[in-house]
Amino acid sequence: MIRGDELNAAVLGVGNMGRHHARVYAAMPGVNLVAVADVSRTLGQRVAAKCGCKYYKDYKQLLDSENIHAVSIAVPTSLHKAVALECIRRKIPVLIEKPIADTVSSAQAIIKSSEKHGVPVCVGHIERFNPTILKLRKLIEQKKFGRIISISSKRVGLFPPQIKDTDVIIDLAVHDIDICAFLLGVQPTSVNARAGRALNSTRYDYADIILGYNGVDVVIQVNWITPVKVRELSLIGTKGYAELNYLTQTLKIYKSNYQKKFDSYGDYIVKFGTPQTEELNLAGREPLQLEIENFISHVSKKNGHVVSAGEGLHALKIALKAAKSAQRANHHHT
Ligand SMILES: NC(=O)c1ccc[n+]([C@@H]2O[C@H](COP(=O)([O-])OP(=O)(O)OC[C@H]3O[C@@H](n4cnc5c(N)ncnc54)[C@H](O)[C@@H]3O)[C@@H](O)[C@H]2O)c1
Repeated sequence: MIRGDELNAAVLGVGNMGRHHARVYAAMPGVNLVAVADVSRTLGQRVAAKCGCKYYKDYKQLLDSENIHAVSIAVPTSLHKAVALECIRRKIPVLIEKPIADTVSSAQAIIKSSEKHGVPVCVGHIERFNPTILKLRKLIEQKKFGRIISISSKRVGLFPPQIKDTDVIIDLAVHDIDICAFLLGVQPTSVNARAGRALNSTRYDYADIILGYNGVDVVIQVNWITPVKVRELSLIGTKGYAELNYLTQTLKIYKSNYQKKFDSYGDYIVKFGTPQTEELNLAGREPLQLEIENFISHVSKKNGHVVSAGEGLHALKIALKAAKSAQRANHHHT
């Protein structure tokens, strides 16, 4: 039950990602960031002091002691299930960082519990709140690109030392997999991948994934080995081409200008004129802020745009299929 106007929030796990959730809640009108929890006392106390809220070392103690209406879960992925179940059991709506969990059965357990207790569970697929993606989806809906032929996505950069429980497919490619579901509105019918360990001896740190969507091909390239952070997507359609940069939040659109003709030999040709180009700078709102605002609207007024636990499970399933495909391919090579 939400009493008064203020909605009480908490963040569980305030490392690289969780600390940003705490910052956003602390600055959000109508929301009261009550407390954060983290097993690291130094880290947790630092974030709590910055955000002007309480600190708990034990997240269960936080949940038992405070009256919380909404929680962000940003502990390591392999702990998502255990922490989410504790919140759901107490009827507290959760926003779980992506990926929803590290295994399909853990994700399913979260969904089952959410249904049993009637508690909203949302997943932090943050790229859906990037203004460039929202714009691109609108243009796709308006059929501005004609028939979509292919999408290519690049998400590469440095190795994140704090990520110890997942590989680059589960950690990074899951973003692109979810974005393709968002843009195309369907799930892939084929999943193929190659992956390997270039600098990391135990987990995949690079992968190239090809997804088939009944006529639309998607190529996703991810790694933790490139010395510069790149987050880009391009889309090819029969009527145009789009280049999207998640980081600069720019979207470049090239509208095809061609005529189908016959040349002097009577052969069929396609004659291209200069394309109409448009570069949209959409930088403005912070995607995490939009994601959390929508989560809060969903919890309090049931009208926010959120990524459901089911959608989170879909993205995880495809990512795990890609990892399996890569494993099979490697097996055949050795
Ligand atoms: N949406 C994004 O773009 C994005 C980016 C980075 C990370 N993430 C996700 O966020 C999650 C965390 O990743 P990170 O990079 O912030 O990792 P991190 O290691 O920096 O942060 C995790 C924090 O959880 C704390 N923790 C561990 N066990 C705990 C427990 N039992 N109770 C309370 N706190 C506990 C750790 O001390 C640490 O501070 C992962 O699921 C990751 O996939 C998402």
